[in-house]
Amino acid sequence: MNIKKDFPILQNNITYLDSGATTQKPTQVIKAIQEFYEKYNANPHRGAYSLSIKATEIYEETRTKIAKFINAEKREQIIFSKNATESLNLLAYSYGLDNLKKDDEVVISIMEHHSNLVPWQEVCKKTGSKLKYMYINDNYEISDEEIENKITEKTKIVGITHISNVLGTINNLKKIIECAHKVGAIVIVDASQSIPHMKIDVQELDADFLVFSGHKMLAPLGVGVLYGKKELLEKMTPFLRGGDMIEYVYEQETTYAPLPNKFEAGTQNVEGIIGLGAAIDYIEGIGYEKIHKIEKEVTNYAIEELKKLDYVELYITPELEKHSSVISFNIKGIHPHDVASILDTEGVCIRSGNHCAQPLMRFLEIDSTCRASFYIYNTKEDVDKLIKAIEKVHNMFIKYIK
Ligand code: ALA
Repeated sequence: MNIKKDFPILQNNITYLDSGATTQKPTQVIKAIQEFYEKYNANPHRGAYSLSIKATEIYEETRTKIAKFINAEKREQIIFSKNATESLNLLAYSYGLDNLKKDDEVVISIMEHHSNLVPWQEVCKKTGSKLKYMYINDNYEISDEEIENKITEKTKIVGITHISNVLGTINNLKKIIECAHKVGAIVIVDASQSIPHMKIDVQELDADFLVFSGHKMLAPLGVGVLYGKKELLEKMTPFLRGGDMIEYVYEQETTYAPLPNKFEAGTQNVEGIIGLGAAIDYIEGIGYEKIHKIEKEVTNYAIEELKKLDYVELYITPELEKHSSVISFNIKGIHPHDVASILDTEGVCIRSGNHCAQPLMRFLEIDSTCRASFYIYNTKEDVDKLIKAIEKVHNMFIKYIK
């Protein structure tokens, strides 16, 4: 199965190892977008003419496709947004602000991306609630004891990333959700780093809300999803207000449309949504089992090869079944930005920096890491190029390293 051939950009001799930031897009997704503009472009929900009706159909069919993809009970539980960040802000403002009271607690983890952290800081300040953190142990994991200690009768909201975008740790969602529900708290899962790689079944998981971005799972940039339990979404006030989210508008008052439109103000990223539908078809065409197999083979090989370099420090759990396809590492004595720039001269693309996780960096007592993140189009040859490029960096800097 030559998956790489489906990705035009990867034909240009680049070794793309930054899928945690955004994945490349297959021809099938690019073509779906082109077809939309060539054949169906019109504003969904806004025209009585056939082109707009067709655009509405494709838009709504994609909603149904996503609902099936994550096994949501009802299609109106799927809300389109700009990205996971916008979905999380929606939850912080529309759920958090209305439901949190003084001395309530919001529990998140130290490995959250800023998007599942900064909105909660703000909402906690506004409501007088307390923001608490579940910290990681020496294996870069949140232990069961930590979960049990931090989630208490005071907890009203738990926000947790399914997989850390820095450490690649797969969190124990089952335990977190069970503990939260036992005390009556709701759980928000950030699935941005997991849904490209593993099957998500929201009913089985029993998460109250789950968010993800399309662009990390082969779809275009600028489209995201919020899933929520219907009874919670129905009680929530809108986040953004404007066109298409209303029922009646009077000079001084407005009533709002039912779900999902209540949360979809303004013209949406229709091309992005159509691209997301095509991306889901592509992922389902390969199947998660195969995706897992490809990724495991490449990631485990990369870990093995990186471990052979005694000047490389890895930030991963030793229990590889709890680890995804993200590998953070540092080359002792060399700043990650230098590493990434030199790797770029070899055509190897990795991310360097704090990965929008400054509190985690501070907790680890480092300011940044290099991060290689793999996806279905990566091969062992890509890993070999990464290793060769790392050796080049080390050789260049060796005389300056103390
Ligand atoms: N959240 C994305 C990353 O981890 C941008 O790189």
